[in-house]
Amino acid sequence: MTKEKIQRGLDAKWAGCEIVYYDETDSTNRQARMLAREGVRHGTLVLADTQTAGRGRRGRGWISPAGEGIFMSLIVRPQVHPSQVAKTSLMLALAVAKAIERETGLDARIKWPNDIVIGGRKVCGLLLEMDATQECVESIVAGVGINVHQTAFDEEIVHTASSLDLLTGRRVSRSAIVRAFLEEYERAAALTDDEMMREYCMRSATIGQRVQVIGLDGTYTGTAQGITENGSLLVMGDDGVSREVLAADVSVRGIMGYV
Ligand code: BTN
Repeated sequence: MTKEKIQRGLDAKWAGCEIVYYDETDSTNRQARMLAREGVRHGTLVLADTQTAGRGRRGRGWISPAGEGIFMSLIVRPQVHPSQVAKTSLMLALAVAKAIERETGLDARIKWPNDIVIGGRKVCGLLLEMDATQECVESIVAGVGINVHQTAFDEEIVHTASSLDLLTGRRVSRSAIVRAFLEEYERAAALTDDEMMREYCMRSATIGQRVQVIGLDGTYTGTAQGITENGSLLVMGDDGVSREVLAADVSVRGIMGYV
């Protein structure tokens, strides 16, 4: 994977206009946030072959072995109020799912809020971080970690994770996936809110599924019914009460291979 390979044939106006490539860095999200504060352009991509301190959600790490995965962070500057960043998060998931499907033919689905799953296994995690004032978003760093060539996983994820090579049975090009992602992100950003939501829902692995909501004030089960404009999951509880789930940890039961 090289910057030149990604840019060759890239059909995008602003996404990937600049690519900052590291053989090794601590975390592309951390680097991207620093670059964003220095004023780099909307659409700048920060990419690394390996990360020594990859960040995952909820304070976890993200294992980032050299030559195996895609570890990248796209810097975007949507001119929106902080309350509207959910759209960027939905768009990011949609663009990654479409890019993976386009390049591999695999049925990539979005597990709310931020995982990409194929056949019930997680192949990608997303981590958004933003800098904003009370009125305006200054920058969003959209971090994407995709398992591409990995064939072995840590004990705690061995039954729930997979990689694109394992799922396709061939060696998938990391550069081609990154290029497709940049193109799909730009397309997703040009959709109307309604179109984007429709496409997102079509690719959701969560909507229509039995879910278990593990929140701060307890656990309950129900059926996921949809996603609201602000990115919350609508759950019809088995007690007949409909709730909007935002920050709680939701696990999907049934067809999904992990909870
Ligand atoms: C998750 O926990 O599922 C989200 C993982 C996000 C990992 C990616 S790898 C590239 C970018 N840089 C980071 O430090 N994290 C994100």
